Amino acid sequence: MKKVNFTETVLRDANQSLIATRLAFSDFEGILSEIDKANFYSVECWGGATFDSCLRFLDEDPWERLRKIRKAMPNTKLQMLLRGQNLLGYKHYPDDIVRMFVKKSVENGIDIIRIFDALNDLRNIEVAVDETLKCGAHAQGAISYTQSPIHSLENYAKLGKEMENMGVNSICVKDMAGIMGPNEAYELIKALKETVSVPVSLHTHSTTGLAPMTYLKAAEAGCDIIDTAISSFSGGTSQPATESLCYALSTLGYETGLDMKQLKVINDFFKPVKDKFLKSGKLNPYVLGTDTNALNYQIPGGMLSNLVSQLTQMNQLDKLDKVLLETPKVREDLGYPPLVTPMSQMVGVQATTNVLTGERYKNVSKEVVSYLRGEYGRAPGKVNEELRKKILGDEKPIECRYADTLEPAFDKMKAEVGELAESDEDVLSYAAFPQVAEKFFIKRKEARQNVVSYSIRKVEE
Ligand code: CO
Repeated sequence: MKKVNFTETVLRDANQSLIATRLAFSDFEGILSEIDKANFYSVECWGGATFDSCLRFLDEDPWERLRKIRKAMPNTKLQMLLRGQNLLGYKHYPDDIVRMFVKKSVENGIDIIRIFDALNDLRNIEVAVDETLKCGAHAQGAISYTQSPIHSLENYAKLGKEMENMGVNSICVKDMAGIMGPNEAYELIKALKETVSVPVSLHTHSTTGLAPMTYLKAAEAGCDIIDTAISSFSGGTSQPATESLCYALSTLGYETGLDMKQLKVINDFFKPVKDKFLKSGKLNPYVLGTDTNALNYQIPGGMLSNLVSQLTQMNQLDKLDKVLLETPKVREDLGYPPLVTPMSQMVGVQATTNVLTGERYKNVSKEVVSYLRGEYGRAPGKVNEELRKKILGDEKPIECRYADTLEPAFDKMKAEVGELAESDEDVLSYAAFPQVAEKFFIKRKEARQNVVSYSIRKVEE
């Protein structure tokens, strides 16, 4: 019987796509031992935006969260998402930081690292892949999937082959916008399976409503692993429901390894958690619906919810349709980058600025300037020359891998953060998000002092 493996995303991507990564450790601590019994191929639980969110919003040490998950789930492969040379942030880090980050992620409990580059410039994932393999962990190379006049089956198959040659243990096709339909999935997975011998995984989102059909056709084409979310955190901008896919695939004769009863236990736990976020307004019912706009605009789930919340804050939600129309134009100007972090933010902000100022490229973010300089890597297609001239004048974009221009920085960061950092992990948090991490360290120190003075008082009393 053909097996389809499941990666459960409730702790990372579902959390990130539906509630802007606001799940606190205490929101899911009580179910980890049950998730551990469900026989998932892996549980995606770290990386992506979880790291930033822990430090910025949840007052949690992301490394400590990982260690606690590891301890509570000794039998399950823990998976993280890493943006290649960007790690979890929005800029390129020097190689020594990338290597140290990967090493510490594995040391603290990660088994599988899914590594991608927004532009599919493989020079930007090679160091992270190399270090993952050196640490004895599973390196999963991820292809950022998009559709454009310049992206073809042949290109994707070639990317897969290059990743396999790089030594990756598996290959993921990452459709962050949920735009891949069943037919595209069948053709693409088939092409990859004919080209590479490592397992192939497919990641998509329910945004456009295509995802369950897409997964079924992918399974038919021999897809080895799919990403799903437990049903109360599924649908909309998240992944399709684990239980539904498990049911459908089982009845179609596939082995899933999952037990529906155990999935129910997990889902029963998350139902009231979902209700809590609905009540507080952090889960906007809007993102749970099906939005076929993405089929035209190719807006990924996370980006769509970000645009909605930004425009709402600025009292400009009525401009959403205009921004959605402007987005693909900006993307074309930039040479069709896939809309994945940090490109999704860059394109989204630029499209919003173009609409709100009423003049295209009147204001250009420093990220777009860096992109045009080649600091993010090679654009997949041709960049609008007129735009480049307007912004850069006669300056030519760089040809080399941008990280090659960066000096090693770990020791410098360590000296800079000083005694606030209590471990190398802290130094990495600081290197990734300096201001946010520093604030977190100070709060952590104060909280401890409060606990100390509280217990002294108690003794005195
Ligand atoms: Co995703």
